[in-house]
Amino acid sequence: MTNKLGFPESFLWGGALAANQCEGAYNEGGKGLTNIDLCPAGKNRFKVMFGNVESLKPVDGETYPSHEAIDFYHKFREDIALFGEMGFKCLRVSIAWARIFPNGEDETPNEEGLKFYDEMFDEMLKHGIEPVVTICHFDIPVALMENYGGWRSRKLVKFYERYTRTIFARYKNKVKYWMTFNEINMILHLPFVGGGIVFKEGENKTQIKYQAAHHQLVASALATKAAREIMPEAMIGCMLAAGVTYPYTCNPDDVQEALDKDRENYFFIDVQSRGEYPGYAKRFFRENSIDIIMEPGDEELLKENTVDYIAFSYYSSRCASTDPEILSKMSSGNVMATIKNPHLKASEWGWQIDPKGLRITCNTLHDRYQKPLFIVENGLGAVDKVEEDGSINDDYRIEYLREHVKEMKEAVLDGVELIGYTPWGCIDIVSASTGEMKKRYGFIYVDKDNEGNGTLERSKKKSFHWYKKTIATNGEEL
Ligand code: BG6
Repeated sequence: MTNKLGFPESFLWGGALAANQCEGAYNEGGKGLTNIDLCPAGKNRFKVMFGNVESLKPVDGETYPSHEAIDFYHKFREDIALFGEMGFKCLRVSIAWARIFPNGEDETPNEEGLKFYDEMFDEMLKHGIEPVVTICHFDIPVALMENYGGWRSRKLVKFYERYTRTIFARYKNKVKYWMTFNEINMILHLPFVGGGIVFKEGENKTQIKYQAAHHQLVASALATKAAREIMPEAMIGCMLAAGVTYPYTCNPDDVQEALDKDRENYFFIDVQSRGEYPGYAKRFFRENSIDIIMEPGDEELLKENTVDYIAFSYYSSRCASTDPEILSKMSSGNVMATIKNPHLKASEWGWQIDPKGLRITCNTLHDRYQKPLFIVENGLGAVDKVEEDGSINDDYRIEYLREHVKEMKEAVLDGVELIGYTPWGCIDIVSASTGEMKKRYGFIYVDKDNEGNGTLERSKKKSFHWYKKTIATNGEEL
């Protein structure tokens, strides 16, 4: 059943978070250290995120934003109550693997970690909020990196399978929507973050990244298989860092380039949703001497265990060109730098703003996979000012979200099956790329600055009230 503007009555309005960016309590409750716990604030962050690390231990003199984050670990009840007040139908969170298996490969799970998420899901359900769970949102137990080199090793497939079977058995009556890996394509761009991979000098990075990707794809298929056995009603999704690539001009070279760039990302979803390595990827491997080592049965496993829905993040579109002069005009954006699109404005961090690109991305993904879509990240990272009376008038954020929701609505009218919408960082959290607090996405302000000062007190921004109304009217009043 749809309302007159197209959103189904069952549409899941909500918000999205990730454990490593909100929970803090990085060494409490038996949790093990993760790759993200080693990503410092400040100038060395990118160096580490690209895998240039000397030691797999926190370094004296650095500060690590994930260690405290916004202390969601202790404050989740208060925060979930605020989400409930906004009328959230769902909340996307992730489970920290290292809370459940502190070393990733432990024989038995850590009961304290399991109990923590039991309580979190119960709290959501109490407020009528459906949990949407990412199984791995970038955080990989450091012990798996020390002992096996992260996802470069096939061994991780078994450990991940044990982890997923454990959480499925435990939460099967509380969680219906799951995603196996956050932004699985990110492993190509930030292998330390996406795969816990540190390179040694002289290694063939492309070979290692694609082999690690194969391991994750197999692990994802095994998780899907386990989910079907343990909780047949569950919905298992893949998750793509999306954003359509436009050819910069109608020069066929630019058009081909845009297609190739998109395929770099679609490759992952093609495997997870269609169940096989696409021809263009096989060609790329052949021509670049990449040899993916598979075990007997891998291909059947991938074929038989495809996902139920396609989740994705959308912050911006991208542009592609083969013209060296055009290529010199770059703009940042969700790690994947892109050519500046002269038709678009950009955020304070240079991420270009393209609401129509969301409609185009939805249609492209739906045409390609013919499965329901779930927009699990979207939003504007901006600096917010607290006025003397305590108010925060984030009209720029409302404007950003309003324009994206309008295009989302267009996509629904185009016939795209959309499960829901969870804007990113629904309460201010640590920025993944910069480690800053001042790059804020939330409807709820958190009193903490880049240096870690602040009371952690929560307050409602203007966008809180806007989003509440949006949800209450099922997107009719924007
Ligand atoms: C996505 C990630 O890439 O973008 C999130 O899944 C991240 O973890 C989000 O926070 C926004 O990026 P940033 O760097 O502004 O936090």
